[in-house]
Amino acid sequence: MKHQPLIIMGLSTILMSSAFANDEMPGKALHDDANCLKCHASKPYNPAKTNTFPKLVKAVSFCNDNLNSGWFEDEIHHVAEYLNATYYHHPK
Ligand code: HEC
Repeated sequence: MKHQPLIIMGLSTILMSSAFANDEMPGKALHDDANCLKCHASKPYNPAKTNTFPKLVKAVSFCNDNLNSGWFEDEIHHVAEYLNATYYHHPK
């Protein structure tokens, strides 16, 4: 009984921080779940090749179609945002 408040506090901190992380970058979870790095770990995302943000959206859309991840348009954008923030850094 003595430890209950601590456990509850710990749990809500975990829940809150994961909700916050997802709000911030919803594309990260989508990207990780789709296992994109299965190929792209050995084929690194290349900002010199995909050299604008619109091309990045097209590339994500292309791989999504090939893989049948079944992402909607807004999810493709979330993933493009995440990849841009993490690897590409193109202006939008
Ligand atoms: C089966 C292997 C494979 C998987 C899995 C895969 N891709 Fe690709 N991806 C490719 C290939 C092949 C290309 C295009 C040719 C190249 O980059 O050499 C490409 C190109 C890309 C590019 C542009 C590459 C660059 O250098 O800028 C992006 C962005 C991309 N994929 C995103 C994704 C995302 C997001 C996922 C997960 C939904 C994904 N890919 C999953 C094979 C894959």
